[in-house]
Amino acid sequence: MTSLNDFLFGIYPYICLTVFLLGSLIRFDRDQYTWKSDSSQLLRAGQLRWGSNLFHVGVLFLFFGHTFGMLTPHFIYEPFIGAGAKQVVAMTSGGLFGLLGFIGVSILLHRRLSDPRIRVNSKTSDIVLLWLLWLQLALGLATIPLSAQHLDGSMMMKLAGWAQSIVTFQAGAPELLAEAGWVFKAHMFLGMSIFLIFPFTRLVHVWSGFGSVAYLVRPYQIVRSRRLGVPAPKSHGNR
Ligand code: HEM
Repeated sequence: MTSLNDFLFGIYPYICLTVFLLGSLIRFDRDQYTWKSDSSQLLRAGQLRWGSNLFHVGVLFLFFGHTFGMLTPHFIYEPFIGAGAKQVVAMTSGGLFGLLGFIGVSILLHRRLSDPRIRVNSKTSDIVLLWLLWLQLALGLATIPLSAQHLDGSMMMKLAGWAQSIVTFQAGAPELLAEAGWVFKAHMFLGMSIFLIFPFTRLVHVWSGFGSVAYLVRPYQIVRSRRLGVPAPKSHGNR
């Protein structure tokens, strides 16, 4: 059991991160025409507005919440908020946005499975991905009553310590999870697995979603005339 624990929480995270980064790079390099969110809005707009918006609002909050919540070293936020209070903030905000995301993904799943036009145009990976996200959100929500049994923040500190040890290549990360219950571990395993399958699904659009923020700061496009004697305009205002 210990060796399985060591593999799942000491080695598997690196397998997932490597496949996530290298796989995304290779897909972008070799298969750019498949790099898209594959919207099904043209097939049917119904249910997409509520489903997709609720899902994206929820999941984007959770993404940033997990990233900053787990990876910010304790000493940075300690002067402002204690571990117990941070846990309560994480549970309430994560619970609220997790619920929004869960309702959203349930609508998306229902829409994808019940509409024959969307169903026939769905790849297996589209359906598997929605089920995995549904299960991951359900498991995340299921951790909240368990966390409520120990509000001192000690378990949250261990989980954050595990994530920080992994990204900073420290030994002994799996031991930090010795006391974590199976719901926490299942949620973490599935979370890592979503990174593993990421490059093989429509999830690659998440890179582009974040990348598009660069348009806010990109320099003006310089447009030069090809006709001789026509002075080139300095720049065009359209970004
Ligand atoms: C970075 C910002 C993001 C942008 C700009 C974005 C944009 C989009 C767009 C335009 C679509 C197609 C239309 C639709 O079905 O709503 C889509 C679909 C989808 N997105 Fe995102 N997205 C982002 C982040 C994410 C994240 C973080 C996840 C999950 C981890 C995610 C998962 C999905 C899924 C599963 C679908 C397909 C929904 C369906 O079944 O129709 N997206 N996204």
